[in-house]
Amino acid sequence: MDYVRLGTSGLKVSRIALGTMTYGDPGWRDWVLPEAQGRPFIARALELGINFFDTADMYSLGASEEVLGRALRDYARRDEVVVATKVFHRMGPGPNDAGLSRGHIMSAVQASLKRLGTDYIDLYQIHRFDPETPILETMTALHDLVRMGAVRYIGASSMLAYQFAKMQHVADMHGLTRFVSMQNHYNLVYREEEREMLPLCREDGVGVIPWSPLARGFLAGNRTPGEARTPRARSDRFSEALYRTPDDYAVQTRVAEVAGRRGMTPAQVATAWLLHQPGVTAPIVGASKMPHLEEAVAALAVKLTPEDLSALEELYRPHPVLGL
Ligand SMILES: NC(=O)c1ccc[n+]([C@@H]2O[C@H](COP(=O)([O-])OP(=O)(O)OC[C@H]3O[C@@H](n4cnc5c(N)ncnc54)[C@H](OP(=O)(O)O)[C@@H]3O)[C@@H](O)[C@H]2O)c1
Repeated sequence: MDYVRLGTSGLKVSRIALGTMTYGDPGWRDWVLPEAQGRPFIARALELGINFFDTADMYSLGASEEVLGRALRDYARRDEVVVATKVFHRMGPGPNDAGLSRGHIMSAVQASLKRLGTDYIDLYQIHRFDPETPILETMTALHDLVRMGAVRYIGASSMLAYQFAKMQHVADMHGLTRFVSMQNHYNLVYREEEREMLPLCREDGVGVIPWSPLARGFLAGNRTPGEARTPRARSDRFSEALYRTPDDYAVQTRVAEVAGRRGMTPAQVATAWLLHQPGVTAPIVGASKMPHLEEAVAALAVKLTPEDLSALEELYRPHPVLGL
């Protein structure tokens, strides 16, 4: 396993992160694995050298954090792992049960700490931009969490680049903690981030940790026109909304062709492509079967040639903004 700095921070993370949205409560999404089936993935990830785990309060409405927290307590030492979670999405019916207000951030962090069974979160991320809270209120609340020791670093997730730049600017102007990472939507069938967000992150030393590196399985070939080949491909409604155009299918086919030529799987090629992109720190992979994890780690050893890279990239056509 390779370990690299998360952006220009001092935090060292494995170049593959394991996303734990897949583990928790199947009542939340029917492709989610229950705890007993999810724990072995966390144990195997640790064996493979993965030290970086991503969850969110809203995944399985808290159960993903609980599963991750219990597994890490059983299989790892707290200080050898990097635990990342998120705040923003709705966790209850009340007007203050969502968003990035000081009130919700302060309650949400306590709830996440309790579910994770830890007294600090390594990377606390805002899941989305909140247009209904002043940026200074959010940045001050996040800074206070760092000062309190509840949170060690802060990060952000999908938003427009100008919103992210504004938030960092407010932090700078007031001497507050800056975000060290951007968790964004970036894969071979969604590359709009190359326009603004990735150059911004590279210039500012912000680590990039893309979500859904395989486009929720689409790039691994778990779905072809008219045929869904896995339970998640059949029931993941969000995936259908994001990846469905003829251009997307053309890229999917091209990934399979390059993989065939190189004697690899499409998943390895798509993950390796992300690892070749300048500024990308660690793709956050999802795994519902054990070989998924092993193939993600094997992608670290793949060297794509300039011909492979242009074959993978040339069919991409611009997309509307997706996944915000
Ligand atoms: N910040 C955000 O807004 C946001 C949004 C989405 C996700 N995330 C984070 O990103 C993580 C990963 O998301 P994701 O699960 O959508 O990632 P992904 O890696 O794009 O998709 C994972 C799916 O791809 C398929 N797959 C993976 N490896 C494979 C292989 N080697 N061969 C064949 N199929 C393979 C599996 O599909 P099947 O199960 O169908 O076999 C698996 O469930 C989440 O757990 C979460 O932490 C964040």
